[in-house]
Formats: sequence, C-alpha cells, structure tokens
Amino acid sequence: MAFKKEPIRFDYNNMMSDYVGEKGITPAELKAYKDAAKSAFEAVKAGRGQNMMGWTELPYNQSEVVEDIIATAKDIRKKYDYFVVLGIGGSALGPMAAFQALCHLHHNELPKSKRKAPKFYVEDNVDPERMAALLDVIDVKKTMFNVITKSGSTSETMSQYLIITDIIKKELGGDLASHMIATTSESKGNLIKIAQKEGLKTFYIPDGVGGRFSELCPVGLLPAAVLGIDIKNMLKGAAYMDKKCSSDNLSKNSALTAALLQYIAMEKGCNISVMMPYADSLKLMADWYAQLWGESLGKAVDLEGKKVNVGQTPVKALGVTDQHSQVQLYTEGPFDKVITLIGVDEYRKTVVISDGCEDIPGVNFLCGHTMNELITAEMNATEYALTRSGRLNNRIMLPEVNAYTLGQLMMFFMLQTAYTGALMNIDTFNQPGVEEGKNATYALLGREGYEAKKEELNSRKEKDAKYII
Ligand code: PA5
Repeated sequence: MAFKKEPIRFDYNNMMSDYVGEKGITPAELKAYKDAAKSAFEAVKAGRGQNMMGWTELPYNQSEVVEDIIATAKDIRKKYDYFVVLGIGGSALGPMAAFQALCHLHHNELPKSKRKAPKFYVEDNVDPERMAALLDVIDVKKTMFNVITKSGSTSETMSQYLIITDIIKKELGGDLASHMIATTSESKGNLIKIAQKEGLKTFYIPDGVGGRFSELCPVGLLPAAVLGIDIKNMLKGAAYMDKKCSSDNLSKNSALTAALLQYIAMEKGCNISVMMPYADSLKLMADWYAQLWGESLGKAVDLEGKKVNVGQTPVKALGVTDQHSQVQLYTEGPFDKVITLIGVDEYRKTVVISDGCEDIPGVNFLCGHTMNELITAEMNATEYALTRSGRLNNRIMLPEVNAYTLGQLMMFFMLQTAYTGALMNIDTFNQPGVEEGKNATYALLGREGYEAKKEELNSRKEKDAKYII
C-alpha cells in the first residue's frame, strides 16, 4: 500500500520564552548550553554500536535477519489464527505500540478475511485473570507464541512460558516447536538453553540492545511482520531520522534540540514529561515512551558515582480524551511539566459529522465538519490554552501514521533519550532499580542463589497494623 514517506516535524516554538513567557527558555539559554549539547552529541556518536548502544545500528545491520523474519511471518500468517507475545516491559511495549499504531484499531474483532493476519495478544503482566482470559479466547492449537526475553530469566515471562508450555505439551502432545518461537540473547540466560533443547526457532536480541531500545530488532520486527507491517519501511524511517540527527547543528538535529530543551526544562524544575498523542493509534506510543524515558533517565547516581537522584517522570495522556481529564491540571496546576503533543496531518480515515439539530445552533455548527477537523482544532486549542497559561509545550507532527513515520518517531525518541542521558551525565542504558525488583522477586519465590536477598527481605521492618485501616 502506498503511503506518505515524509519527514516528521518537531516544533518547539512553545518551549521558548517569546511564546510562553517567563517560564520559557530564552535563545540566550540555548546558546549558553550549546557546548553541553555538542558534548552530549559527541558522547552519543562515540558510543554508537558499542556496549549498550547497539540499537543505533539496527536500521543498517539486519538485512539477513529481516528476510528470515519476513519468511517466518508469512508462514505464521498462513498457518495460525492467533499470535501471542509472552514478555514484559521492553519485550512487550514496542510490539504493542506498533500493533496499535499500524493495525486496524479493532484488529482482533475483524473477520479473518479482512484481518489478513492472526489475532494478536501481548501478555505484558502476570495477572492471573489476564492469563485465564487469554486462554478463554485463543485456541492453543491454532496459536503461535513468541516468548521474548533478553535476559532469559525474567520471572513474569518465564512463568508465562511455563504455563503455556505445559498446555501445549498436555493438549498437543508436546509439539512445542510448532507453537513457540523464542526471541532472546544468543549468549546469556535460560531461554536460549530451553530453546536449543526444545528445538525452537529462535531470533536473537543483539547484546548491545537493551529491552527499551529493542523495538527495531527481532523483538519488535517479528510481531510486526506477522501483523503484515512493512518492517523494511519502519527501518528506513529509523535510518532517515538517524541520518537527520547526524550533526551537532541544533537547527538540524531535532532529537538533540529536543533533548536540550527537556534538559533545560528539568533544570528549571519541570520534572514531568507528558506525552499526549492526538491519535488513538499512537496511544501506546506514550506507554512505550514512558518506559524509555523513565527507565533510562531515572537514576540514583551519575557517571562518577555521585548521588544525584535525577529523572523526569513520564505521564501518558491521550488527546482529546484527556482534555476532559488531565488538561485542567496541565494548564493551571504547578509549573512542573513539559507537554509533548503528537499530531497527525492526515488521518487514514475521514469521518464527516452528519447534518442534524438545525434548530440548535450550539450543536449545528459542528455539521459538515469532519472529525478530522475537530480533533485537529482541539489539538490546536489545547496547545493555545497551554501556551496562553505559560506552560512549556512542544509538538511532533506526523504526515500520517505509517511504518516509515513510526520508525522515525521511535528513533527520534531513542536518540533524544540518549542525548538527554548524556547531558545529565548518567548511565542511560542500565536499570539497577528494575534489577532490584527482579532480584527481590526471585528471593521471595525461593530461587537458588538468592538466599542472602531473602534474608535481607525477611529482616525488613514489620508493618504496623495501626497504619492499616
Ligand atoms: O528495558 C529493560 O531492560 C527492561 O525493562 C526489560 O525490558 C524488562 O525488564 C524485561 O526484561 P527481559 O527482556 O530480560 O525479560
């Protein structure tokens, strides 16, 4: 299907003091931070493709695996009615965001002839009711499961794996390889051992690609390809953005400029980053961004080990829905937020608002307009209201939502995150806080090797009943 292969645009007028007044950023401030931005750019450039920055090369170094993914996906589409991702966090949020963005918004409810791809589910939790509900709606015989875990040991994912494997073995006579594909690290963890023992088709997560930076590797590409998403154009979009951001010139490198603006805003006390797409299709992009931004930038220490406790709390919102929920707070509450609106020039459908209520001008003015005009007007109106009340906001415009623009958007946010982390002088790519929770779970459930952690947990201060009412 032909689609707009055009650049996305980052508009930061309303971050500037000329537009939002005293809380805004002045051109002089931008100039004062120019060298800091240049150093951040150089640090990211120097790190490309190394250590945990393997994600920068994903648009360029996967031609072989992409062909394998496309062939595997074609086969899955032919043979299976359901495709279920078992995974959590970075192994689930990207596939969910791409699905929401690029498939029909009621994909699973469409008849098979219109869907042209299996029904799609992602088990991004260990809520027993969610697992039971999944099992109520799928037919395991007609399902391909994709178990995704970089570490190969995450409790949530491995428990999902165990439950599903047991069902497959009991109900289908042990034919695991026909119903499960593994996506994991080639060199570490338990899933790779299991995959080899069970003879599972396996895709590898490159060593230098962390969970939240993994959508453009097989973690995201296989589910996307199964859904019929044009993964080559997704990677092309990412490459386009990467190239666009290949200089330290702030007027060209949009991700670097976006990073610098957020960094200055944080310095001014704006410690909340609201992500508010004006498109249901991009709703889960805000979830994906929340993990990327929160887990990458929320850190206790800087690169020298000094205690800093930094980060900007990501908040997920949806336009226009949250205009009727959170925007009151954004326009009149504390000056502690940067609001990023994501807009779309051309929605993929046009819906005309029908004629009616001729005798009620307060309703009739809507007639003849389209919902497209209405949602765009509402985004412009919210932007105006935020700006009028002096709130820092910016917007990213997508010519339309498609694989190419989504690839650009994801690469933009990943680069922005890397630059911001460099400006903050922190390790953007670790997640000791997440590991701590994982280790405590292992200890609580009696995993071997975690006895000391269990002791530590057992010696924690008892809760006082008087505080439980
Ligand atoms: O970004 C990260 O590294 C984490 O949030 C992981 O994605 C998440 O914990 C799941 O880890 P894994 O893929 O190892 O199961």
